[in-house]
Amino acid sequence: MPPKPPHVIAIYPGSFDPITNGHLDLVERGSRMFDKLIVSVLRNDTKKPLFSVEERTEMLREVLHVYPNVEVSSFEGLLVDHAVANQATVLLRGIRAISDYEYELQMALMNRRLSPEIETVFMMAHETYSFISSRLVKEVFSLGGNITGLVPPSVELRLHARLSKNKS
Ligand code: PNS
Repeated sequence: MPPKPPHVIAIYPGSFDPITNGHLDLVERGSRMFDKLIVSVLRNDTKKPLFSVEERTEMLREVLHVYPNVEVSSFEGLLVDHAVANQATVLLRGIRAISDYEYELQMALMNRRLSPEIETVFMMAHETYSFISSRLVKEVFSLGGNITGLVPPSVELRLHARLSKNKS
């Protein structure tokens, strides 16, 4: 087994379309566990995101600049290759409910097969945020529901701007 690196870098990957307070909670807790945490947005043309990768990374930077050991980036291709390129030895993922587990387990085991030296670490979502997902936030918002407290205020403003642009 390789020795523990003196400086542990973790990657927190995801779509972040957009970042929610659930993601934010995970970043905050992850930033205390690892020496450096890289929040990485997947560039995936097959999903139809509401926000472009550039908009999502911008939103993440607006919210996460207060954490000195947190960086924001984007990636395409295999996550483990992105981790190796950044000297990261940990992949951080959040689990909200048992329904997340199967998908997360599949990904973790596939990533372990691809790169056994990289460890996936799961953190339980905070109970306050365990029902939040980017998909539900977008759905509730587009139907006129109140999303205050579910996403950072700057993200809520972006959603308002996007909705009024889509309507005009
Ligand atoms: O927020 P999401 O959409 O649940 O994040 C999924 C993500 C980005 C973690 C996952 O799709 C991913 O890692 N994609 C990169 C492609 C890859 O490495 N696939 C093989 C291992 S599962």
